[in-house]
Amino acid sequence: MGRIKIAPSILSADFMHLSEEIGKIEVGGADLVHIDVMDGHFVPNITIGVPVVKALRKFTSLPLDVHLMIDNPELYIDDFIEAGADIITFHIEVADHAHRLVQKIKSKGVKAGAALNPSTHHSAVEYIAEDLDMILIMTVNPGFGGQKFLEGMLPKIKAAAKYGVDVEVDGGIDLDNAGKVAAAGAGIIVAGTSVFGTLYPADAVKNLRVEAEKHELRP
Ligand code: DX5
Ligand code: ZN
Repeated sequence: MGRIKIAPSILSADFMHLSEEIGKIEVGGADLVHIDVMDGHFVPNITIGVPVVKALRKFTSLPLDVHLMIDNPELYIDDFIEAGADIITFHIEVADHAHRLVQKIKSKGVKAGAALNPSTHHSAVEYIAEDLDMILIMTVNPGFGGQKFLEGMLPKIKAAAKYGVDVEVDGGIDLDNAGKVAAAGAGIIVAGTSVFGTLYPADAVKNLRVEAEKHELRP
C-alpha cells in the first residue's frame, strides 16, 4: 500500500449534483476534496467560496483541501476555517507576510499549504518550508481546469520534495503523467478533468492511485 493521496478537484464536477459527485469519489477512495477558490483578480476566473465549503463540510467527512487563488488571502482565512476547511493553501506570489499567514492558519488547528505558479521558483518557500504542511506545485497556470500538464514542472516537484514537506501537484494530471509526478516525489495528486470529466469518477480515482503507486518514490 502506497501513501499517495488522490484529491479530486470539484471544479470539473457537476455543480447541480455536487452531493452525488462527492459520493462517487468517496466510493473511489478519494483522500481529500480539492476546492478551487478563484476571485477574478489573482486569476482570470471566478469560481466558488465559503458557502460551498460550508455545504460540503456538512455532507462529507473527507478532508477539505481549499486552494485559494485569491489576492489578499489573509482577509479570508478565518471565514474558510469557520466553514470547515482542513487544509488552506494560499499562493506565495500574493502573500506579503507568508510566515505570519502560515502561523495564523496553524494556530487554528488547520493545515497550511503554499502554492507556486509555474513561473515561481521553488526557493520562494524555502524559508517557510519547515513550518508548512504542504507545498502545492502548479503544473498548469492557475485559473482553469482542463489545461495541459507542464512537463517542465517535474524538476520543481523534485526540488520541492527535498524540503521534506508533502508535495501536492495540481493541473492537467491524468493517467499518462500520474506516474511521472509520483516518481518526482509528489505525495498528493489533484485531478479535476481526469476524474469528473469521465463516465466513472470512482474508477478514475482508483486508476490514478494504481498508476501513481507504481511509480511513487516513497515506500
Ligand atoms: C487550476 C486549479 C486546478 C484544476 C485542476 O487553476 O487549481 O485544481 O481545477 O483541474 P484539471 O485536473 O482539469 O487540470
Ligand atoms: Zn487547485
